[in-house]
Amino acid sequence: MHLKKWTEAAAVDEFEETDRKMIDLGGSRQIGLFKVDGAFYAISAWCSHQRATMMHGDLEGFELVCPLHGARFDIRNGAALSLPAVRGVASFKTKVEDGKVFLKV
Ligand code: FES
Repeated sequence: MHLKKWTEAAAVDEFEETDRKMIDLGGSRQIGLFKVDGAFYAISAWCSHQRATMMHGDLEGFELVCPLHGARFDIRNGAALSLPAVRGVASFKTKVEDGKVFLKV
């Protein structure tokens, strides 16, 4: 069994000029870390439809739009909000401590 643990992912400062960062945990585990209204959210970087990377997708509020076919995902919980995606993607808890962002992975 894989026990989840808090992993340092970024410095808060890294988000001064961007709203996102791709966190590469190796293998097929890439996570998109997003900042919206001062809070951090993390979901899989890969679309559940045809596994396109969503790191360059538009972010509209809490909705991340897959750049390939336009499926939308809620970055707060990974839920699929529109076709062609019918499955959500993994989401990850985040926390900020001492100017650093941690992911529970
Ligand atoms: S790969 Fe994302 S909507 Fe098709």
